[in-house]
Amino acid sequence: MSVHSSSPVRVLLALAGMLAAFLLPTGPAHASAPLRTHAAAKGKFIGAALATSPLANETAYRNLAATEFSQVTAENAMKWDSTEPSQGQFNFSGADAIVNFATQNNQQVHGHTLVWHNQTPGWVQGLSATAMRSAMQNHISQVVGHYASNPTVVSWDVVNEVFDDSGNLRTSFWYNTLGQSYIADAFRAARAADPDARLCINDYNTEGINAKSTAIYNLVSSLRQQGVPVDCVGFQTHLAIQYGFPNDFQQNLQRFAALGVQVRITELDVRMVMPRDATKDATQATYYRNVVNACLAVTACAGVTIWGFTDKYSWVPDTFSGQGAALIYDENYQQKPSYTAVHDALAGGTTTDPTPPTTPGTPSAGNVTSNSASLTWTASTDSGGSGLAGYDVYREQGATDQLLGQSTANSISLTGLSPSTQYQVYVRARDGAGNVSANSALGTFTTTAGPGGGGCTAAGTVQTQWATGYVVQPVTVTNTGTSAITGWTVTFTLPAGHTLTGSWNATLTVSGQTVTAKNLAYNGNLAPNASTTFGYQVSRPSGNTQTPSGYTCA
Ligand code: G3I
Repeated sequence: MSVHSSSPVRVLLALAGMLAAFLLPTGPAHASAPLRTHAAAKGKFIGAALATSPLANETAYRNLAATEFSQVTAENAMKWDSTEPSQGQFNFSGADAIVNFATQNNQQVHGHTLVWHNQTPGWVQGLSATAMRSAMQNHISQVVGHYASNPTVVSWDVVNEVFDDSGNLRTSFWYNTLGQSYIADAFRAARAADPDARLCINDYNTEGINAKSTAIYNLVSSLRQQGVPVDCVGFQTHLAIQYGFPNDFQQNLQRFAALGVQVRITELDVRMVMPRDATKDATQATYYRNVVNACLAVTACAGVTIWGFTDKYSWVPDTFSGQGAALIYDENYQQKPSYTAVHDALAGGTTTDPTPPTTPGTPSAGNVTSNSASLTWTASTDSGGSGLAGYDVYREQGATDQLLGQSTANSISLTGLSPSTQYQVYVRARDGAGNVSANSALGTFTTTAGPGGGGCTAAGTVQTQWATGYVVQPVTVTNTGTSAITGWTVTFTLPAGHTLTGSWNATLTVSGQTVTAKNLAYNGNLAPNASTTFGYQVSRPSGNTQTPSGYTCA
């Protein structure tokens, strides 16, 4: 439902839909109910991208699409090459088929996508700047306008994939011809065409906190400060089990939520190197569960859309040779462990598995430096059915043990440790239902002395501030020593009454008003004189003008 003013027609139709939903016998979600029943009980949607051909031709496809999902996205049918293949010639046949199906099944449609560098016809790409800007505005006006009075279509990906993986604006034909302004223009045109629709920016490889997700964060923050109508951020979430799970996904969603936008998982799939086997299926199930749980844990997360639902129809094998099986049903429409994982996470995760994983082996340290160490341990197993989800590594400290890190594998690289310090560490295993094993036995190691004449410094710059908050960006961390460091820890103090609301490019923990920032895996290594940066956002009492100072680095 939109946060914006609604037309009377839309309000009436929406109220009628809500009334119908209330009149249906619902009651508590049964353990084996469809995904959409459990998702609704949690206030989230669960969706799937749909392809027009099987939707028209296969009963099994249609039935599952209708019964399991409360939201749909057109996998291809709303893209520019489908809706406006020749200039001014609009064709909504495929898009309308999906929207009508959704209406019949009481589902919401997310429009995908208005402005993208792929699947856009050649005639657009060759236009002059003036002609391209007006073609873009006309396309948005016609496509969004076509559905503006239809309550089934509630949101749009206005721009898709505008950044490259380094966090620079992608040098697409849009950018090369129009410069960065096409992004704000596209959002304004979409708002003009449908004041009620939720307008999103969407991208991939943005699940973790990294250069690309931080670039989107900064863009969204800046656009909203300028009054550009960006309401939501989509995280595509095309994952692969061989590349590991982004453990800071939830934290990343939360920092975007702090900007005041809705977040949503827009294109979830988890591919594997073929052939499938039970171990890969179990890992895949863990990834699906983790994604759903991250969305459930973040209030601003509206829901999760899977990019298809059956392995019979998936973009993955066509794009990644030798990979596939990325979805929650197999090619014969049989549920996979990933389906059960999504189901159980939406259902609450505790109904089916009361058994914790076995206790992990004693962690053993290697590659110990002045500020880092690698730990390995014998893996746990989980027999309760929900599968092993990961490990938490703690430092034994008496009353409040410190969480040093989390890992999905039976090993971890610890960074940001203190020199010449003894560490006693233990590991706990978690399963998908949230059961936790007993603590492993303690492993002990001592970090080496720090680099000679070494050390690091940190200094923060307030980038922007307003009455009730500020953004510190960058905090520059510099290795002032004579040898390379493999991790750093920066501390600083927040003035009284100030609260940390977001951070990027470092892991920040708060104790009282003391903030400790540790490097992430990718920015801990600094050669002598090299620097890296991180940033954070704080809210403060209105009228208070203080900002933090006194940064220390070790
Ligand atoms: O419709 C034609 C058909 O007539 C022709 O015979 C056939 C021959 O290759 O191609 C068909 O078009 C294909 C189209 O999917 C419909 O199946 C295109 O070649 C193919 O490139 C296109 O792939 C789509 C891809 O986007 C294109 O960029 C995938 O289905 C779709 O899943 C994928 O979705 C994207 C999201 O929109 C954005 N995020 C990433 C995601 C995965 O790449």
